[in-house]
Amino acid sequence: MLLLAAAFLVAFVLLLYMVSPLISPKPLALPGAHVVVTGGSSGIGKCIAIECYKQGAFITLVARNEDKLLQAKKEIEKHSINDKQVVLCISVDVSQDYSQVENVIKQAQEKLGPVDMLVNCAGMSLAGKFEDLEVSTFERLMSVNYLGSVYPSRAVITTMKERRVGRIVFVSSQAGQLGLFGFTAYSSSKFAIRGLAEALQMEVKPYNVYVTVAYPPDTDTPGFAEENKTKPLETRLISETTSVCKPEQVAKQIVKDAIQGNFNSSIGSDGYMLSSLTCGMAPVTSITEGLQQVVTMGLFRTIALFYLGSFDSIVRRCMMQRAKPEMADKTA
Ligand SMILES: NC(=O)c1ccc[n+]([C@@H]2O[C@H](COP(=O)([O-])OP(=O)(O)OC[C@H]3O[C@@H](n4cnc5c(N)ncnc54)[C@H](OP(=O)(O)O)[C@@H]3O)[C@@H](O)[C@H]2O)c1
Repeated sequence: MLLLAAAFLVAFVLLLYMVSPLISPKPLALPGAHVVVTGGSSGIGKCIAIECYKQGAFITLVARNEDKLLQAKKEIEKHSINDKQVVLCISVDVSQDYSQVENVIKQAQEKLGPVDMLVNCAGMSLAGKFEDLEVSTFERLMSVNYLGSVYPSRAVITTMKERRVGRIVFVSSQAGQLGLFGFTAYSSSKFAIRGLAEALQMEVKPYNVYVTVAYPPDTDTPGFAEENKTKPLETRLISETTSVCKPEQVAKQIVKDAIQGNFNSSIGSDGYMLSSLTCGMAPVTSITEGLQQVVTMGLFRTIALFYLGSFDSIVRRCMMQRAKPEMADKTA
């Protein structure tokens, strides 16, 4: 009887695996597609633009600094696969004025056609202890990382829904899956993206528009170098418990997941674990993904408890080290 039940369970799981691809979204064809990448002049965004260009897409790069945009355009153009491909550059601050963002997206659509994929990659990070961060830093990060993703998405969504085609990618961070020492301002701006993406996915799925949230780990980019300058010791030591990824590797994974219409995009085994652990009520794109989450949840939570314990001990050690000179002063 037990054997029969086990055989039935195995057969059921196998069936689900086989049916899974049938209910997953149809992959987006990148050749000839118009891909807009905000933050496309540097780091992960530039590598995403290169990856899409290599697969035959037309690209609009959006960022503020015109020199950096032109430099990135030249770099991307080296990877063309046909002489029709175009890289368009648009200089705008994605976080300031919605009507300006709407205007430039309209211009891009007039030149290269409706947007098939929007990658919201413009963003920045500043670290520091909660009480040391200026209040303006919280406002700035929320504005760039959150509103800077809302505005371009809002500007493309109506056309995507009308055409029944589209992908919207939000670049969050692993710090958007768990709160870490030093990231009170950054983490909250990246957590906000997850809420936006979940709600938006429910609205646009019936229109064949799919949303992807990417959670990159520490990645070797100019932005990461800037962030490192602001990290408190605790944040730096916690960061050093994992390795730093190459932006090309991160970009490849994001583009692959966006084409597939996967809601979640994570990198490496840590990323996989974190995403499974924090899936909550996030949509699943395939039955297999859902099954994996159900099966692995307990194991991953156990591993996570060890990680949390080691992060706590890093914070305690730093605190004690700082306290030592003060104690010595007091006893002198
Ligand atoms: N690198 C990492 O370790 C890491 C890890 C997790 C998540 N992320 C996220 O990945 C994204 C890219 O990071 P990155 O490290 O590749 O950064 P990066 O090298 O500093 O590139 C940031 C890009 O965003 C543009 N940008 C910034 N603010 C903008 C604004 N207000 N309006 C328009 N464009 C703006 C920048 O160009 P301009 O300055 O010329 O505007 C640049 O093109 C960010 O959202 C970041 O939070 C990064």
